[in-house]
Amino acid sequence: MKMLKHSALALGGGKPAVTMKCPAWPVSGRQELIWMEQVVRSGKWSWLGPHERAFCKEYAKFIGSKYCLCLANGTVTIQCALQGVGVKPGDEVIVPGLTFVATAQAALDVGANVVLVDIDPETLCIDPAAIEKAITRKTKAIIPVHLYGCMCDMDAIMNIARRHKLKVVEDVAHQHGSRWRNRGAGAIGDAGSFSFQQSKLLTSGEGGAVTCNDKAVYETVHALKHVGWGPDGKPANRYGHNYRITEMQAVLLRGGLRRLGRQTGLRDENAQYLAERLAAMGGPLRAARRDPRVTRQAYYTMTLVFDPSQAGGVTKPEYMQALRAERCGLGNPYCPVYASPQMNLYDVTSPVPFRDKKTMQNFRTLKLPNVEKAVHETALVLDHAHLLGTRRYLDQLLLAIRKVNDHLAQVKALRKKRGAGK
Ligand SMILES: Cc1ncc(COP(=O)(O)O)c(C=O)c1O
Repeated sequence: MKMLKHSALALGGGKPAVTMKCPAWPVSGRQELIWMEQVVRSGKWSWLGPHERAFCKEYAKFIGSKYCLCLANGTVTIQCALQGVGVKPGDEVIVPGLTFVATAQAALDVGANVVLVDIDPETLCIDPAAIEKAITRKTKAIIPVHLYGCMCDMDAIMNIARRHKLKVVEDVAHQHGSRWRNRGAGAIGDAGSFSFQQSKLLTSGEGGAVTCNDKAVYETVHALKHVGWGPDGKPANRYGHNYRITEMQAVLLRGGLRRLGRQTGLRDENAQYLAERLAAMGGPLRAARRDPRVTRQAYYTMTLVFDPSQAGGVTKPEYMQALRAERCGLGNPYCPVYASPQMNLYDVTSPVPFRDKKTMQNFRTLKLPNVEKAVHETALVLDHAHLLGTRRYLDQLLLAIRKVNDHLAQVKALRKKRGAGK
């Protein structure tokens, strides 16, 4: 790779290293347009139409689960999956301290008491040792979130669940198609929850799915999402909501699923290309190590590790700022769940059982060490759309990183000049 020592940092007024555009997301194909017109003309727009039924079959096959149900989004999927596996108000549910806030909110919304635990510093996924420590008499379920571009240690988690008779609801909002020892994420635990929101790897704008292998879980989730009706079309004599999707959404999902395998393969190849080049380059940035038990990795983002000890005094925000100026847009991880403004349980719009509850973890004072370090010092992510780029585009991203790495002293000096980093 060409050295760029002589070219000026974009942060200091030089030309940005990246001139090509990041590939667009979401994408669609001709088949969806054909189906969409047929659906519009058919007048069959909802209520488990032929496209939704077909997609559920296709997606269950893709994931390797017996059942699949489509729901309105990837938050109500977690609610219904938790209720489907038997979580009741007052039960404790163990959730990682780093995930999108919806994972925790979904558990709170079904009346469960959320217990946030620390993460593995390499994968950013829930730490099995922290799960084990958090188990009490009231614990009923664990929600491992396969976060960004790494899977949770499902061997350890399933082992803990078996020993303590706990249920496992996998949150797979980020990794449609990941596989652990050749078993699909979402088909390993008692239920899987997927989001099909616009930024996701498989999308219908909004939407979600629950996958499971147990008929009783399937029937409960069916009733919960379909106003109390069972899969046999008869009232199941139970409480329910309307969390249905439309046929238009199902059409987008069927089209997207046809491309997903190829896209996952391309993202994986490109992520490995970037990981190898970053390792060869040295410097403060590297890819998170991949667990050899992951037999297929899907990437909502690529998980990257910033090592401050290799950065010559430049902090993660300063490093990101210099890269952004080069038009290499790396992102930050989510804020810790406990620090999220939406976790204000004293607000009158929060779920009723928790407004005055004194027995919960105090989210306002909680600080989980690995979550804190990852969020503030070491974790960076690269959005999945970049991983669909050409090798020329990826090489431009690598050149931007190389350029910033070669000018760390200047990044630091510019900080002093701008009065930043105080
Ligand atoms: C890890 C995780 N879980 C759950 C959700 C909720 O999904 P939705 O936005 O479809 O409700 C998201 C959405 O971004 C997510 O990232």
